[in-house]
Amino acid sequence: MKAETSDVDRAHAVYTRRGLAFYDWWVLGVSNRWIWKCDTQKILDLYQAHLSTSHLEVGVGTGYFLEKSLSNESRRVTLFDINLNCLERASKRIAGHHPEVFQGNILEPVNLQGGRYDSIAINYLLHCLPGRLEDKAEKVFDHLIPHLDNDGVVFGSTILGMDIQRPLLARLLMSFYNSKGIFSNQQDSLGAMMEVLSKRFRTFNVEVCGCVVLFWGKGLRETYRNRYTGEQ
Ligand SMILES: C[S@@+](CC[C@H](N)C(=O)[O-])C[C@H]1O[C@@H](n2cnc3c(N)ncnc32)[C@H](O)[C@@H]1O
Repeated sequence: MKAETSDVDRAHAVYTRRGLAFYDWWVLGVSNRWIWKCDTQKILDLYQAHLSTSHLEVGVGTGYFLEKSLSNESRRVTLFDINLNCLERASKRIAGHHPEVFQGNILEPVNLQGGRYDSIAINYLLHCLPGRLEDKAEKVFDHLIPHLDNDGVVFGSTILGMDIQRPLLARLLMSFYNSKGIFSNQQDSLGAMMEVLSKRFRTFNVEVCGCVVLFWGKGLRETYRNRYTGEQ
């Protein structure tokens, strides 16, 4: 089913300048540890394991993870987001790395003006996007893969609505966010996430941490290489 534009807008309307001022404290400080039961350090470890010197960040938020993880060796970092406030805040935060910045909707094909990246992060993006995980993740991966080096890695995490233990506070907050369209993850399952990854990558990993699944996929399968590179 095609998502209405308003659903796409509702998913990022919360990231006003004022909202972003509280994001690191509320989401990365309080919610991750006490509500979703997955400490922000776990996500930071994922970034530190997979962030490359040629990196595309999709759904940038405040730029917290990039600021903590980018090294002086970084050659190229690109930010992609639908929301200008997020792009402004994240690009200021990592200004020393001279990021390229693109605004767009990841549910539609993206043109990043050439070049491929060795790593792409989609952290805490999928649970915000409207639609079934099977459909939205398919779209996101298919729009990003043309920008991924054949041996590159896509990594990130998302909050699941199914297949995980949800303590009372998590159930309440998730249901509130879903009612506002900030999250659309009630049917997001671990199985769907694994299927999307296994279809595209020769090697992949998922790790459940509280309500969150951390994932990475590396090395495009032959059919996906062929599809985007024209190689035989
Ligand atoms: C929950 S925040 C995650 C921020 C950051 N990655 C983190 O983990 O802290 C979701 C981000 O996805 C962006 N976003 C939401 N819908 C989007 C869309 N359709 N296309 C691109 N970015 C989107 C939001 O603007 C926001 O920056």
